[in-house]
Amino acid sequence: MLKFIHLTDIHLISGGRRLYGVSPERRLHAAIDSINQEHSDADFVVLTGDQVHWGDDDNYRVLADAIARLDIPVKPMMGNHDNRKAMLTALPSIETDENGFIQYALDTEAGRCLFLDTKIEAETDAGEYCPKRLAWLKQQLESTDAPVIIFMHHPPMKLGLKGMDIIALLDAEPFYAVLKPHISRIRQIFFGHVHRPICGNWRGMAFSCIRGLNHQLALDLEAPETSVPGNFEPPTYGVALADAEQIIIHMHEFMDRSPHFELVTPEGMDGREYSLHMRHGDWDRMT
Ligand SMILES: [Fe+2]
Repeated sequence: MLKFIHLTDIHLISGGRRLYGVSPERRLHAAIDSINQEHSDADFVVLTGDQVHWGDDDNYRVLADAIARLDIPVKPMMGNHDNRKAMLTALPSIETDENGFIQYALDTEAGRCLFLDTKIEAETDAGEYCPKRLAWLKQQLESTDAPVIIFMHHPPMKLGLKGMDIIALLDAEPFYAVLKPHISRIRQIFFGHVHRPICGNWRGMAFSCIRGLNHQLALDLEAPETSVPGNFEPPTYGVALADAEQIIIHMHEFMDRSPHFELVTPEGMDGREYSLHMRHGDWDRMT
């Protein structure tokens, strides 16, 4: 069984500064504490891009110090907010391909995991997957018969969120053309960028996204392209369990502090009486 954690869009800012009123650094440490306490048996944590909000060295130094606290390996990736050179300076052990893009492969018992670099070096938040990167992906797909799991920052499909759809992966068709001969063994595409929990199927391939760590995108299917509505839904990380038969992705709202209690009520006691016997938490606060 391969077990990994999907965490995305940390948007870290150094110096304890807040972004949209909340502290990404505090949230990152809360996520790390939760992962270490609850999922230290996972094989890795994948960070699907936007590690920092501004791609400067200070932010990456704070990121490097924080993720050093993780008890399990980390797979950092590029997002539109990231700076390739600064990330490699702070995290020199990250693998790159022969052209210097931060993309790499990991062969696991659940298949070959491919971590892609979709950062575009231009004044846009959209993503690209240029011919050099496509060549690397093609080689990675053709050099194994194993199932494949793909990780990337930018979604290659439109999601019905207009303000984000215009900054998705710009060259989705060339990207799809490389995937197409291998679709039957591409098990899942995990991505970030959208800051929302979304799952679905694109041209036969399953995909999933989770909430950003710091701030989220509000669900507004009517908002125009010029608007990116945000909100503060609870931050989440995904807990993925993958074997030869299936991939299960549990969404964990790790900062939730609502009481935990046993749903199986003791014999002879109904649910309302049982509320008095909850193990911890404040029932009044919840009702
Ligand atoms: Fe982001």
